[in-house]
Amino acid sequence: MNIAVIGSGYVGLPTACGLASFGHNVICIDNNEQKLAVLQSGHMPLFEQGLQELYESNNSNIRFSGDMSDIQNAELIILAVGTPMSDDGSANLQYIYAAANEIKPYLQNGAIVATKSTVPVGTNDEIERIIDNPNVDVVSMPEFLREGYALYDFFHPDRIIIGTDSMDAFNKIYNLYAPHIAPEKIIHTNRRSAEIIKYASNAFLATKIHFINEIADLCEQAGANVDDVANGMGADSRIGRKFLNAGIGYGGSCFPKDTNALAYMAGKYGVQLGIVSTTIQGNYDRRFRIAERINEQIKSVGQNARVAVLGLAFKNGTDDVRYSPAIDVIKNIHHNPIYAYDPQAMKNASQVLGDNIVYEKSVHECIKNADIIVILTEWPDFKELESVTFGRPTVILDYRNLLDENIMQSKENVTYKRIGK
Ligand SMILES: NC(=O)c1ccc[n+]([C@@H]2O[C@H](COP(=O)([O-])OP(=O)(O)OC[C@H]3O[C@@H](n4cnc5c(N)ncnc54)[C@H](O)[C@@H]3O)[C@@H](O)[C@H]2O)c1
Repeated sequence: MNIAVIGSGYVGLPTACGLASFGHNVICIDNNEQKLAVLQSGHMPLFEQGLQELYESNNSNIRFSGDMSDIQNAELIILAVGTPMSDDGSANLQYIYAAANEIKPYLQNGAIVATKSTVPVGTNDEIERIIDNPNVDVVSMPEFLREGYALYDFFHPDRIIIGTDSMDAFNKIYNLYAPHIAPEKIIHTNRRSAEIIKYASNAFLATKIHFINEIADLCEQAGANVDDVANGMGADSRIGRKFLNAGIGYGGSCFPKDTNALAYMAGKYGVQLGIVSTTIQGNYDRRFRIAERINEQIKSVGQNARVAVLGLAFKNGTDDVRYSPAIDVIKNIHHNPIYAYDPQAMKNASQVLGDNIVYEKSVHECIKNADIIVILTEWPDFKELESVTFGRPTVILDYRNLLDENIMQSKENVTYKRIGK
């Protein structure tokens, strides 16, 4: 198949390289000249495990271009441009509508436009109106990949949602994936259901995180241990253990914007999504309560305390600090200086936090002589603390429940605290 992917980002590039590896001819379009120059020189402009290698082994099937007329032979056009959060919480659709207008002159009869960008219900109807061609089908095909596991998720998806009333379009996309992916994973819905599936899925996962954080608060007051509670709950196959890790709340480029967009779109339909609204607010407030705990700890140790923070990215495995709760926590610690380290996110974090932080080169450098160590991202690298000997009184606030509790509690000179205990 001749396939065009519009938008060469965290979704577009793994999708393009994955489809090229199935043997299709893929043209990737991006309007960011800097990014395009990197791509055309044979390099991936973002970090995703295995992506560069997958590209290199399939580069004869992939081209990169900034010229939309290069899509004119495409039978399938995948839209993968950004849909960031607007100030009012809604999804900003300017990029997706611009892309629809730009592809319109080059669509051949029988072409399929499939939207992978996360878009509110009804957006694909609007894309269809923009394209205004009865010989072109517009399909909703939301993307569920996780940053850090994008290629694994491309080749082993839990499901592929194909939202369309056109059997012809459904069959063509089904045949694209069916030889490579278990056919029962391919789910056919109408377009509006597909659009809602994406938002409902992300809001559900975000709610699960917020739920266990509230249970953690209860555990702290009631003399229970949230990790045991999560394990006990998660053993129930109806519940599952994933996304039940208590901590400082969710962040990143998807959950915050998608929960807000879902609440906003429900409001437009006159529907109150109380659970989602509570999750958004509770998750936001949590980072300030965490900062408050750290401030109290500093007060009790003394204002000369050396404070070391481990973790800046919104989760481990990425350099992404967008809506990272760690960043907001740090901004609300009333102490100067703060020493910080993150294995990947220092550059991005320094653009947001500026020079108020002393950026250290390693875990070791960061925690040297620290009176208080705070863990804000669950990087496996920070497990190194389990084998450190602390020669002076040190308070360790493990706010991702990362370290082995027994090891840490048996250490001399260490006061070890975690979430939900
Ligand atoms: N990142 C994720 O983990 C993830 C997962 C699932 C779904 N999504 C959704 O997928 C969409 C894309 O997300 P992303 O993280 O890949 O975004 P991104 O910002 O990494 O990439 C988007 C790309 O689109 C390009 N672009 C914008 N307008 C264009 C146009 N008119 N023509 C050509 N290129 C254009 C930008 O230059 C950019 O390179 C969003 O709706 C997002 O919510 C993202």
